[in-house]
Amino acid sequence: MFDKNGQRIKQIGYGAMVLEGYYGQSDDNAAVETLTHAINQQMMIDTADAYGAGHNEELVCQAIKQASVAPFIATKFGIVYEEGEKGSQLDTGWGFPLTINGSKAYVQRAIDSCLRRLGVEQIDLLYAHYLDPNVALEETISAMAEAVAAGKVAAIGVSNVTAEEIERANNVHPIASVQYEYSLFRREAEREILPTVNRIGAALVAWSPLGAGFLTGNVNALEKDDFRNNNPKMQGDNFTSNLQRLEKIKSVAFDLGVSPAQLALAWLVAQGDNVLPIPGSRKITRIDENLQALNIKLSPDILTQLDNIAPIGAFKGATLV
Ligand SMILES: NC(=O)c1ccc[n+]([C@@H]2O[C@H](COP(=O)([O-])OP(=O)(O)OC[C@H]3O[C@@H](n4cnc5c(N)ncnc54)[C@H](OP(=O)(O)O)[C@@H]3O)[C@@H](O)[C@H]2O)c1
Repeated sequence: MFDKNGQRIKQIGYGAMVLEGYYGQSDDNAAVETLTHAINQQMMIDTADAYGAGHNEELVCQAIKQASVAPFIATKFGIVYEEGEKGSQLDTGWGFPLTINGSKAYVQRAIDSCLRRLGVEQIDLLYAHYLDPNVALEETISAMAEAVAAGKVAAIGVSNVTAEEIERANNVHPIASVQYEYSLFRREAEREILPTVNRIGAALVAWSPLGAGFLTGNVNALEKDDFRNNNPKMQGDNFTSNLQRLEKIKSVAFDLGVSPAQLALAWLVAQGDNVLPIPGSRKITRIDENLQALNIKLSPDILTQLDNIAPIGAFKGATLV
């Protein structure tokens, strides 16, 4: 993926969702420092209006002011998080539905709110976070395209979509990026999403590239209020079975002298130049550790080993999107 000056952006970005306390508490001052560090490392920042109900974008705004380089900010709209806004119910497989609005009027309001909270004149990359099941995607994408024409947005993307929806969206306006869960923990994107993304020349931005922390080996039990309790892969027998499989990946990382997180990210980077993981962390040292994965080249033999340990569908527990 390229920035508006035509420069290729770093293949590992930074996911800011973790700064909203979903996977354990986060402190705002430390969060701004962490974000500033990620911007200064020239990592794409991935946020969304719904993360912390606007709060995450406000943290990003503070970091942009403190950073010493120009940022590349990706944000998303579509999940209704404000009182008084309506939308369509969308099942997620997370144990609760989301409310989504993709109507033209909502898209216009949402973009203006993102610009205001981020404190920028233009959003580098804007995603429809989820498509509204009751609004034709052509309406949503056309409204985003109008924002591009107005100079409010530089490039657009879609997230949590089917291959067919990617094609339809791309027929309305060029899609620069598709965001989808992708990691050794969940490889289903390889079936139809990645081939479609490759065909249209877009980037695949891999969300939860560390399996929401699972692939780091640090998630062996969850606190009661941890959002990941909603993930079927981290519940009951699935969790136990998945932890056993993870041991084999950890052993490959150990033999290579890299951390399990670095191995998971290097594996994603090896899937194609256009595959961009966006790991999140509250710790600056881990951002640096994760970025180092760009310097790890996995041999064909290691890639085959990982294919054998974690083929598509190997980790137990399904989610709908
Ligand atoms: N489009 C969508 O619908 C969607 C959905 C989910 C996520 N996303 C995006 O994807 C981004 C990343 O996903 P995610 O936050 O769900 O999961 P992730 O990046 O796979 O994992 C984050 C977790 O890993 C831990 N971690 C990170 N680096 C580590 C390291 N080197 N060693 C040990 N632990 C490490 C973090 O803990 P510490 O904070 O303690 O380091 C955090 O709990 C989000 O921030 C968001 O921007 C998008």
